[in-house]
Amino acid sequence: MSTEIAYQSSIRPASSKSYGVDEVLTACPETGDLLDVRYDWNRVPVPSSLREFEARWSSRRNPLDFSGVWRFRELLPFAAPGQIVTIGEGQTLLQDSAQVANYVGLKPGNLFLQYEGLNPSGSFKDNGMTAAVTHARMVGARMAACASTGNTSASLAIYAGVTGLFRVIVFVGSGKIAYGKLSQALDYGAVTLQIQGDFDDALQQVRAVCQSAGIYLCNSVNPFRLEGQKTIMYRVLEGLNWEVPDWIVVPGGNLGNSSAFGKAFMELKELGLIDRVPRLAVINAAGANTLYQLYEQQGLCWNNGQPDQALIASFYRQMDEEHRRARTLASAIEINRPVNLEKCLRALDFCDGVVREVTDSAILDAKAQVGAGGFGCEPASGASVAGAKLLREQGIIAPSDRVVCILTGHQLKDPGATVEYHAGPEESAGEYRNSPIVVENNFERIMDVIAQIR
Ligand code: F0G
Repeated sequence: MSTEIAYQSSIRPASSKSYGVDEVLTACPETGDLLDVRYDWNRVPVPSSLREFEARWSSRRNPLDFSGVWRFRELLPFAAPGQIVTIGEGQTLLQDSAQVANYVGLKPGNLFLQYEGLNPSGSFKDNGMTAAVTHARMVGARMAACASTGNTSASLAIYAGVTGLFRVIVFVGSGKIAYGKLSQALDYGAVTLQIQGDFDDALQQVRAVCQSAGIYLCNSVNPFRLEGQKTIMYRVLEGLNWEVPDWIVVPGGNLGNSSAFGKAFMELKELGLIDRVPRLAVINAAGANTLYQLYEQQGLCWNNGQPDQALIASFYRQMDEEHRRARTLASAIEINRPVNLEKCLRALDFCDGVVREVTDSAILDAKAQVGAGGFGCEPASGASVAGAKLLREQGIIAPSDRVVCILTGHQLKDPGATVEYHAGPEESAGEYRNSPIVVENNFERIMDVIAQIR
């Protein structure tokens, strides 16, 4: 066992082997299993109540207290304060939206939207990236890389650009990334490799490249990244005056977020900082539904840290034989081989979780509702609202439940999808279409149109 406060070890409960936080690992060197960052909590000055973190609101000139991630630093204590890299991430909002509550089928006041699109690079990824780049700095990395459907790459690129600490290479699937996100990687100065394949291909390549060239990998197999993403849950609790909601609903792609949320609640419970745990709903797009199929249809579960490996292997074998590739308009979650599958199973086990799949049209309709009754979001984020609506219709979420939907990315990430929904061909029109009206450059004609508006 390590003698340090923080160490890395396999996610298997039985594993006793640990590795220092100064090691750069994306899997257990002995077993290949995913890794956790763990802590000897007896030696960490954790507050006795979550409310104590509020004291930091008054010292916001200190960048660590300003950060929505690092003001909870006692709950992710792997870095010395002087090593922490922050660009002011995590200033995000929890909105109580009556209109979206009505759409989902909940009472007003019971549906909350957590806007992670308000982060500096416009997605939740900044919560994790601040932690990953902090670790990269701790180990003296000079070059960092990731594969991405667009948000991870934007996030890594902004941290590298702003801090000048690393050169960055991002791997994206050719034609598989929304323009808002691609434009960010280019503008922030990242070397951008467009792989002729999809995200699953790009991730496989970047892992091999990083291993072989000693480049620091910032995808969510990096356990430090997920430490930062735990803080989304702390801020949700903060937004609810430290009350635990009944449900957290989150889109599922590579399953880093859902895994991080599960770990957050496991630790808060262990530390006695919460007395109950919310239920977790992970929502797949129907065209990228590996988790849904395995968990809900084939009965795969955490099984005390021993998920059925033969079932997972045969599922992927069949996927390859049938040449099945992920396909959804929610390009952020167009992923068929989620690397955090087993960690997510653990989160589902701990949080009495459910998984659902939703169609692209349900995602886009939900997204339009978030646009009309909230601040907007990108398509993948709409999956959480579509999923909450489905679970409500199925009677799994009760009308009186308090539900938090995580909106993972900003509306402007994928303007193409939004404009297509509202102004695309009539035959593919969504239910909440709001088409622009074409009118002659003529005062009378314009007044005719205005007269018809009620
Ligand atoms: N929502 C958005 C907006 C995302 O960008 C992602 C993942 C997810 C949801 C899914 O989160 O992977 O933790 O289950 N985007 C990654 C990327 C894959 O490369 O930007 P997850």
